[in-house]
Amino acid sequence: MQILVTGGAGFIGSNVTKKLLERGDSVVCVDEFNDYYSPKIKELNVAQFADNPNFTLYRGSITDYEFLKTVFEKENIQRVVHAAARAGVRPSIENPFIYEDTNVKGTLNLLHLAKEFKIENFVLFSSSSVYGNSSKVPFSENEVVDCPISPYAATKKATELLGYTYHHLYHLNVNVVRPFTVYGPGGRPDMFPFLATKLIDEGLEVKRFGDGSTRRDYTFIDDLVDGVVAALDTILGYEIFNLGNSNTVELNYFISTVEKILGKNANIKEYPMQPGDVLITNADLTKSRKLLGYNPKVKIEEGMSIFIKWYQENKNLY
Ligand SMILES: NC(=O)c1ccc[n+]([C@@H]2O[C@H](COP(=O)([O-])OP(=O)(O)OC[C@H]3O[C@@H](n4cnc5c(N)ncnc54)[C@H](O)[C@@H]3O)[C@@H](O)[C@H]2O)c1
Repeated sequence: MQILVTGGAGFIGSNVTKKLLERGDSVVCVDEFNDYYSPKIKELNVAQFADNPNFTLYRGSITDYEFLKTVFEKENIQRVVHAAARAGVRPSIENPFIYEDTNVKGTLNLLHLAKEFKIENFVLFSSSSVYGNSSKVPFSENEVVDCPISPYAATKKATELLGYTYHHLYHLNVNVVRPFTVYGPGGRPDMFPFLATKLIDEGLEVKRFGDGSTRRDYTFIDDLVDGVVAALDTILGYEIFNLGNSNTVELNYFISTVEKILGKNANIKEYPMQPGDVLITNADLTKSRKLLGYNPKVKIEEGMSIFIKWYQENKNLY
């Protein structure tokens, strides 16, 4: 199959690309290499595919409809993994406009072209953020999620709705995935697993927002990629899938796990909770297990050991 992976130079997109190439698919990657974090990292992510004849890279923005149309015209794309986005909750409060532009307009461009070019299946990246401060734990896909508490979450919810509309009007097959805090080698440097590791390793202050009792459902990258590929391979009409681990980890436990692996103590300073932060994320995986055969295996202690080994070998790049 030939698959378009948007955001293919990013953390998740490059790992999905790797998996697809390994199993013999062709991948067309679209990425704008923006500077949300160092583009050098994104260059390194795609450099590993440079010699693969089944990999084609287009540099440009998904907000540019004509550019995207040229990609669809030149390539024989059958399925789409749409991972490109402005990600991150707090920066979306500072600059909501760029989030709306990339996440909403960019997704609409892709859905429209998927319709025009008769794409067989479209995996649309939403986020666990759409659950906001939901009181029903674990979070189920059946829950009504109409109360996003950050612009980022609101844009992700908007993309789910657009995906449904394109399914309803044009029978486009769309599988929405809602990842829960993904970490692992090559992970995003703005996210807590990376930041905590770096700060503890360097003996710098670790900002802990709240008393450390918030809980996150951390998902190891390899588990997540398996779920995304299963969503790509499964045609169901329109469905939404949680992709998490389902074991929640308390922030204080997470920090102590990093301390233990690094053999260093954290210099923690407590700050008030930030606007847009949620108290807990926890995925109900019943549906993903049943329809996608999703089965996350990596526990936080093992996943962070793998991540920290990678970090030690690569920290000079950051
Ligand atoms: N990492 C997580 O924990 C997590 C959790 C929930 C949802 N998600 C979603 O998963 C997807 C991938 O996230 P990630 O963590 O790999 O982030 P990332 O920032 O590493 O990757 C996103 C990629 O998209 C590219 N991009 C951004 N705007 C673009 C545009 N206008 N045109 C073309 N390319 C553009 C970026 O350059 C980047 O390479 C995103 O949709 C994100 O919202 C991630």
